[in-house]
Amino acid sequence: MKLCFLLLLFSPLPSIISLVSPPSFTTHLRPPTSLNSILPNPLVAEIKMSATVELFSKVKAMEAEGKKVTSLCVGEPDFPPPQVVLDELVNAISSGQTTYTAVTGTEELRSAIAADLLKRKHLQYKSTEILVSNGAKQSVYQGVFAICGPGDEVIIPAPYWPSYPEMVALTGATPVILPTTIEDEFLVNPKALAAAITPKTKMIIFCNPSNPSGAVHSASLMSEIADVIRDYPQLAVLSDEIYERLVYNPSNPHVSFASLPGMYDRTLTVNGFSKAYAMTGLRLGYMAAPANLLKPCITIQSQLTSCASSISQAAGVAALTKVQESEMEANVEIMRKKRDYVLSKLAAMPDVKSFTPDGAFYVLPDVSAYYDGDDATLCLDLLENKALALVPGSSFGAPGTIRISYATSQEELEIAMQKLGDFLKESRQ
Ligand SMILES: Cc1ncc(COP(=O)(O)O)c(C=O)c1O
Repeated sequence: MKLCFLLLLFSPLPSIISLVSPPSFTTHLRPPTSLNSILPNPLVAEIKMSATVELFSKVKAMEAEGKKVTSLCVGEPDFPPPQVVLDELVNAISSGQTTYTAVTGTEELRSAIAADLLKRKHLQYKSTEILVSNGAKQSVYQGVFAICGPGDEVIIPAPYWPSYPEMVALTGATPVILPTTIEDEFLVNPKALAAAITPKTKMIIFCNPSNPSGAVHSASLMSEIADVIRDYPQLAVLSDEIYERLVYNPSNPHVSFASLPGMYDRTLTVNGFSKAYAMTGLRLGYMAAPANLLKPCITIQSQLTSCASSISQAAGVAALTKVQESEMEANVEIMRKKRDYVLSKLAAMPDVKSFTPDGAFYVLPDVSAYYDGDDATLCLDLLENKALALVPGSSFGAPGTIRISYATSQEELEIAMQKLGDFLKESRQ
């Protein structure tokens, strides 16, 4: 086999052929079949792309056939970024802000983030304790990879954002899923958390407000959770707060995990611009953490991507310093009305259980009374029969539920909820 490979490598054949015909890379450089035995890293081979691939490929196939699909799958706001953000993007390009920035981000953006965290979250970080990345997704992964590795356990409350367990597995650590119930509004139970901690537990990933449930942990529940964690000095908390701007209940405001007594030193706070400012495609997120926790994250980023886009960073400064609070509040109010509309329609559907989520733009109703709890088949049939795409809850570790994203137009929501109601009714006839 080796001999064949060497012969092929040093064969004069390509140069002879190039004298008589133009080079064809597909012909000449096709690897010999023996190279097909190159296997991917086993850590990567085990990683799931997405449990909803089948559903999404069906959506694409239906759209290709010219069918109009109503989709409540997306995790992005349906409003555009604020005008000042768009203006700054243009300005950054035309004024030549197109070179690498510092790995950690521009000083202007890091200072603006530090000032925002101090003003709204009562968190004191130096600008050097902020690491700007290409989206919060990168920040989460770097945080996990910087702290966890083979032999470590990472507690992930379910329902969870599907990337968490896969990111943990990519580092070689073991994801430990902590179930919650709809009766508890999918909030973390401090006693269950205490029972899940072992000497191997290195990190807890805490997503608040939650994707996919929309649940917001109250200040008092969070201090009970902190009381549990306080006993374990080896335990880090990765607090994903990307939905913190989208909260609807003034008596249950978002509280940053790092602001709880004794939690600052162990917390990696992740946030970003995708959800609050509808800047999803601009890929801008960040981590705030004490220098000793942030340093390994900076090292990883320096070898992976260098810096976030210079243009997006300029737009990020505009988002934090120029967007009026009234504009942010108006968007929240629109989302709250959409949430209430969806909940009112769900309440009229027999045997569908839900609660009022205080944040994000998702509801995760329990539809286990239908399809014997098989949410994946329910979603596929719903797509096939009614051209309505929803994500099955089993992809978030919450079997028997379906995730509805209400970040879409009121018109689409009305069509979607009508389709869902009709479908569930017909499934029982
Ligand atoms: C819980 C959660 N964290 C992080 C992200 C990543 O956001 P970004 O677009 O900043 O990478 C998302 C996006 O859907 C999310 O839902």
